[in-house]
Amino acid sequence: MATFTIKNGLTGAVGEFEILESTMGAPVVNIAGLRSKLGAYTYDNGLGETATCQSSITYIDGAKGELLYRGYPIEELAQKKNYIEVCYLILHGELPDSGQYDRFEKDIRTKSYPHEGIKHLFNAFPDNGHPMAILSSAVSALSAFHHQHLNVSEEDEFMEMARRIIAKMPTLTAFTYRHSMGYPLIYPDMDRYFTENFLYMMRAFPTGKTEVKDVEVRALDKIFMLHADHEQNASTTTVRAVGSTGAHPYAAVVAGINALWGRAHGGANESVIAQLEMIGSVENVDTFIKRAKDPDDPFRLMGFGHRVYKNFDPRARVLKSLRDELRDTIGISSRLIEIADRVEQIALSDEYFVKRNLYPNIDFYSGTILEALGIRKKMFTPIFVIGRTVGWIAHLIEQKRDPKQKIYRPRQRYIGKVRRSVP
Ligand code: ACO
Repeated sequence: MATFTIKNGLTGAVGEFEILESTMGAPVVNIAGLRSKLGAYTYDNGLGETATCQSSITYIDGAKGELLYRGYPIEELAQKKNYIEVCYLILHGELPDSGQYDRFEKDIRTKSYPHEGIKHLFNAFPDNGHPMAILSSAVSALSAFHHQHLNVSEEDEFMEMARRIIAKMPTLTAFTYRHSMGYPLIYPDMDRYFTENFLYMMRAFPTGKTEVKDVEVRALDKIFMLHADHEQNASTTTVRAVGSTGAHPYAAVVAGINALWGRAHGGANESVIAQLEMIGSVENVDTFIKRAKDPDDPFRLMGFGHRVYKNFDPRARVLKSLRDELRDTIGISSRLIEIADRVEQIALSDEYFVKRNLYPNIDFYSGTILEALGIRKKMFTPIFVIGRTVGWIAHLIEQKRDPKQKIYRPRQRYIGKVRRSVP
C-alpha cells in the first residue's frame, strides 16, 4: 500500500489516494473520492487506463504476450486439457478431479436441449438474416423460458445457470446455421462430447451417417478454449455493465453477444476471411500490404494488431501451430491459407508492422482453420460466442459475489451548449 498524490492545477486542491497492489501486473490507484477531493473526474477515452473491477479469473501481460486462466498458461492448458475442463476451471477457480469432471460434463450434455418452444422462434427469421442477430434473439428468448433464475442469488443456482447456458449455446448456434441453410433442425446427441456434438449438429442430415473426425474435434475444442475468457474486453465489460443493474443473467449474456458482433472485436475473424478473399491471390498481397501502410488509406490488415498485446498474441501462437499440425495430419490447405501465409511472412518482417508491434492476433488464424474445417464464414463469430460464454458467466458470478459491486455509472466531460432559455 502506498499513497498517490495529485493536485488540481486550477483550484490548487490536493488529494491523496491509495495504491492497491495486484497479485501480478500493474498496481491500481483507487480514485474513490476524487471528485470530492479535487473537484474533477478522470477522462479515459476507451477506458484503456482504467480498472473497472477486481477480478481473479484471467491475467494478461500484453507486452510479454502472456495469458493465464486462473494462473495457468493458455499454452499448457491447450496442450493438456479439454474445453470442458477449462470451463470448470474458469467457473470454479480450480481444475476438476475426475469425479467433478464426470458430473460437470454429464450435466452439460443433459442440459443441451432447449425447450421445444425455442425451435418455433427460428421459423420467424429470414434465411439470410445474420447468424449473430438470430443467435442473440434465441438467447434472449431463453431468459423467458428460465425466468425462475431472474434473482440469481444462491451459489448453486449460479452454477446451474452457468451449465445451462454453456450447454445450450452450441445447440442454438447449430439451429441458427441450419435455419440459414434451409436444413431441418437437429437435436443434440447425448452420446457425444460437447465439441463433437456441435460439429455433428452442424453437419448431420436426418438420414445417413455423420462423420466427425477426432482431429477436427480437437482443433475446434482448442478454438473454444482459446476464446473462453480475455479479462475486461468490450463484450465482458458490457456483460458486467448489464449485470450490475440486476438484469437477468441471460440478458447480460445477450448484451455480450451483441458487443462481440463488431468487426473491431469478435467480428474480426469473419473480416479476416473476407479480406483474404478480397486479396484473391498470393500475387496481390504486396499491393494490399502497401495499402495497409498508407496513412491516407483507411484500409487495415485484418487480424493484425491488438489493443492489449504488443507482442505475439499467445492464443495466435497456439493456433498457428495447430494449423501447421492440421496441415500435416489431415492435409488442410486452401488458397486462403496460402494468401494468409504470404501476408504473415511479409508483415512480420516489414518495418511498418515491426515498429508498431503489430503481430497476428487470434482472429488471423482462427478464421483460416475454421474455413479449412468446412465452417462457413458467417458462423465464425457465433463460434466465438460458444467459447466465450463461460467467461461472460464467470464474470457475472464474480460480480454477484462481490459485496462491494455497484451499478455501472461512468461520468462524462460535457462539451455541449451551456444553459440557455427556450425562446
Ligand atoms: N493494419 C495496418 N495498420 C495498423 C493496424 C492494422 N491492422 N492496426 C494498427 N495499425 C497502425 C495504426 O494505423 C497506427 O499507426 P500510426 O501510429 O502510424 O497512426 C498504429 O498501428 C497504432 O494503431 P492503433 O489503432 O492506435 O492501435 P490499437 O492498439 O488501438 O488498435 C486494433 C488495435 C483495433 C485491434 C487495430 O490493431 C486493428 O484495427 N486491427 C485490425 C482489426 C482486428 O484484427 N481486430 C481484432 C482484435 S482481436 C479481438 O478482438 C479478439
